Amino acid sequence: MAVRVRPDLAGITGYVPGRTVPGAVKLASNESGIGPLPSVVQAMASAGELINRYPDNNASVLTAKLAAKFGVDTEQIVVGCGSVMLCQQLIQATCAQGQKVAFGWRSFEAYPLLTRTAGAEPLMVPITEQQALDLDALADAVIAEADNVGLVFLCTPNNPTGTTLSREEINGFLAKVPGDITVVLDEAYREFATDGSPDGTEFLVDDNGNPRDNVVVLRTFSKAYGLAGLRVGYAIGHPALLNAVRAVHVPFSVNSLALAAAEVSLDAEDELTERVGTVTTERARVTDELKALGLPVTESQANFVWLALGEGTAAFDAFMQEHKVIVRAFAGDGARVTISTPDDNDAFLRAIRDYAGQA
Ligand SMILES: Cc1ncc(COP(=O)(O)O)c(C=O)c1O
Repeated sequence: MAVRVRPDLAGITGYVPGRTVPGAVKLASNESGIGPLPSVVQAMASAGELINRYPDNNASVLTAKLAAKFGVDTEQIVVGCGSVMLCQQLIQATCAQGQKVAFGWRSFEAYPLLTRTAGAEPLMVPITEQQALDLDALADAVIAEADNVGLVFLCTPNNPTGTTLSREEINGFLAKVPGDITVVLDEAYREFATDGSPDGTEFLVDDNGNPRDNVVVLRTFSKAYGLAGLRVGYAIGHPALLNAVRAVHVPFSVNSLALAAAEVSLDAEDELTERVGTVTTERARVTDELKALGLPVTESQANFVWLALGEGTAAFDAFMQEHKVIVRAFAGDGARVTISTPDDNDAFLRAIRDYAGQA
């Protein structure tokens, strides 16, 4: 007799991470190319001495520090095992079986997977030709199925295209969609945005200064803070929504080393800002060169660039791999390339100059 598993999981293969190939430069996962700060290593070593104990399930110290940083109450913060787990918790907290989770496509590749494994259904709205989220079309799609939509993800800067949403676009969207639908502003790459796009936390209140209970901002320590391997992210939002997110938290899923590292990282903002500055300078250098080569690159506001290569994506991916550079390819759409250290970026540029010569 075959084991009984949920039939709706048939065909779902799980998340496919960026590849790591020995000897190749990995530019496939939007990680920081620089190792951890010395203060972070020190804090983890000290926390390691207490590793026989469970972590603080409420992440009290980190929560208090984040609340102070953003000028909010501690019940407006939830810490999670990476912001990806908070995405999952938000879906679980808002969507009943068969309800819809709306998002632009292409966007973060975990959204459809997390939606389906929660028993919900993706409502995917194509991005524009300029590779940006189409908030008018997304609002129309949400309104058309309003009773059945539990949550919307707005990813800004958008992974993998790097485009951001303007204040007018977000305000317009929030004014149009019903106020009982949760809108998640996924800002995993916020620290890299230099285009004056708004900080999602400003939408936690409406124009009259009244709190919105349906808006939540997601941030992570994985990207600008360089702690991808530790798995820690956080949500900022209204207590009414975050209490439901806390209800579906997997106990002790944020470990003690991650908490200690995130806490000290918040004391090292100057060093981290400098690191982010190096990435944004490198992003401009790489983007200019890709443009000069005549390649279809978007103006990214994140720590990666996006090449909308369409049907040429698979061949580009294979070429890069042959040249020992691992990018993240989405067949038929394009390739995302992480901005890393100047040396890694140079390796990518050398390979792509060859590609452009051949293409
Ligand atoms: C848009 C977006 N959101 C969330 C995440 C999850 O990041 P983490 O779970 O490492 O915090 C990622 C990771 O790539 C991402 O690109």
